[in-house]
Parts: sequence; structure tokens; C-alpha cells
Amino acid sequence: MKILKLNKISPLADEIFAGQEYSDTVESPDGIMVRSAQMADYPVNDNLLAVARAGAGTNNIPSAKYADMGIVVFNTPGANANAVKELVLCELFLGGRKITDAIEWVKTLKGTGDISKQVEKGKSKFAGGEISGATLGVIGLGAIGVLVANAAVALGMRVIGCDPYISTANALALSPSVKLIPSREEVYKRADFITVHVPLTPDTKNMFNAETFAKLKDGCVLINNSRGELVDTDACIAALESGKLGRYITDFPADAMIGVPNCICVPHLGASTIEAEDNCAVMAARQLVDYIEHGNICHGVNYPDVSMARSGAMRLCIHHKNVKEILSKILAIVAGEGINVENMQDASKGEYAYLLLDAGLPVSDAGIEAIKQVPGVIRVRVITD
Ligand code: MLT
Repeated sequence: MKILKLNKISPLADEIFAGQEYSDTVESPDGIMVRSAQMADYPVNDNLLAVARAGAGTNNIPSAKYADMGIVVFNTPGANANAVKELVLCELFLGGRKITDAIEWVKTLKGTGDISKQVEKGKSKFAGGEISGATLGVIGLGAIGVLVANAAVALGMRVIGCDPYISTANALALSPSVKLIPSREEVYKRADFITVHVPLTPDTKNMFNAETFAKLKDGCVLINNSRGELVDTDACIAALESGKLGRYITDFPADAMIGVPNCICVPHLGASTIEAEDNCAVMAARQLVDYIEHGNICHGVNYPDVSMARSGAMRLCIHHKNVKEILSKILAIVAGEGINVENMQDASKGEYAYLLLDAGLPVSDAGIEAIKQVPGVIRVRVITD
């Protein structure tokens, strides 16, 4: 197995790839481990099977293009969730009180005489509010959103959450004190603080724009640790200047935001904890190995999750378009060779689908070639060992 790392990855992944070629110079890799390296123009080699993103966001990877090539993109949802949650909690406090401005002011007092006297005299302009009792709107209740919502409840906040796609597991993990709200509009109207935890997609790009800001409660604090492009920079600055937005705290600073009063810019530190980097690396590496060795997909971004224990003499891993009658055509080829299907699983995600088929006996080369020719089949991989 040849694995290329495009970024610095926690050394815990080294143990998982022990005995394999794993470095930042590997050529023609079977798999790639990546964090934030931009892969839009990466020259893909023919044997590349998968890309594992040690993190949640995958906007640096051309996932749709890779789906068309039968290359699976993985991410590691939840692996850095606690780290991001802790940063959000810190930002909630920074949003409620003028701590950052106050710290900057204290620096200006260096060498100016009786500090304690000056501090007592000047501190009133930095008085702030407590977050306990305030309403927090959590937009997006994935792994991070749920942890944030529950922690905010424990801090005494009134928490409302909105996520039309919440999974059953996340709904069950949510504190009963979190009120689920069907529409974002209601969150905009009611929240004193809003934290956003959604992926960047064409639908979510600039979801905070002039129109959205107009709907917020005056002085609302917006926290964005997801992706900078979720927020329209010009509209955000205008909302801060007018006071409509009390504060904007982001882990994705844009040049225009830096130095704007009431904008707190953090240099993408959400997942930058030793624990999160280890968790992401281990999860990404394990998923990559399981896929390369057994064809199992867990936390697929551009293909559905499909995994099953190995059985039979040969495993076929078939990437295909989600189109009708394709399975019957593939099965007819296997059955035509008098071969029993020991086990199979197929699932789809949007226009793409993935089939794992364990055949009782090896399918012939001609049979494999025939499967490749079935209209809609993208890639066929054979695993025998
Ligand atoms: C993520 O997408 O997981 C976070 O933004 C952290 C990171 O990019 O590594």
C-alpha cells in the first residue's frame, strides 16, 4: 500500500501505516492523507483509490470530480468536535464580554505609573454581559453543533437549534433542554448569540448576507467556526458598523475583517489541539486502510457508507451511477458464470452508488471486463487476498 501525505499528519497515523510506504514523497499513491492542502489541481494518478481528509470540511477536495473517477473521499466527522466545541465556548464568553479589547487596553498601560489605580478607573468601559440566561441559536446539529448546544445548556443558556437534516443519533444525543426550531428565520429573530455549524456548499455560501443580518436581533453575536464563505464579508462589516451585529467572531479571518471594531479573528484554531489532530489522523488512516484492503466505506463524502465482513473467494468493489437495472445486469454476469453471490450490499448517495459483492468463486477476467462495460459502471476493483 502506498500512501502519500499532503500535509503534516499526527505521528499516530504512522503506526496504522506501519510496513507500508507512507511519506510526503510517495509517487503514484493508492491513498492520500490530507488536511487543508488544496487538491483542485492535484494531478491524479490512475491507481489512486481514495483520499482521506483528517478533518470535517472537504471543500479543499474536488469530491464530485473524484466520484466520477471512482475515487472515494473520506472525512472524520466528530473526531475534532470537542476541540471546536471548546473554542466556541471560549468565543461565547468573548462575545458576551469585552475581554479582547480590555486586554489590548491593559497593554497600553505598560510603564504609565500606578496600574491598579488606572485599571480601576478605566475598567468601566469594558463592562459586558453574562451568557447565562441569553438565547443561543445553533444552526447545524451535527457532531459539533450537538456538543456546543449541550454545553451551552449546562452554562445556563437558553438554547434553540435548527437542522432539518439532523441524524437520529444526533437527535438522541441532544439535551432535552435544547428546543428544536424548524426554520432558521425563527433562530435569527430570537437569538442573542448564533453559532453556525454547517458545511460550505453552494446552498450555504453567503447564508449570512445583508438580508439575513437585517433579520437578527439588534446586537446579536455571530460565531462562525465552519467556513469563512458562509458569511458575506461586506454585509457583515456593514452590520457591525451599524451595530445590528454586536460582534462577529470567526475562525476564518478575511483581510477586510482584520481590525474592524467588534470583529474577533481567530487563525483557524478550531481543530488545533493535540487531541483533535490525533483523533482525526487515526480515524482517517483506519478508514483508508479498511477501504484499500477490504473495500469498506465508512464516512464516505462522495460515496455512501457500505461495509461488510469478508466472505467468499473474491470481493468486487463496484462504483456505479445510481441508475435503474444496473444491479440486475451485474448480477446476471456473475450468475452467468454459475457463481453464487455469498453476500452483497449496495447503497447510493445522490447520483453515485457503491456495490460490495462477495462471490463464492472467482469471477473470470472476461466477467470482470463485462461488468466494467455495463453502462453506468464507473470503476471495478477486485480484492482476493
Ligand atoms: C475541519 O474542517 O475539520 C476544521 O476546519 C479543521 C481543519 O480544517 O483541519
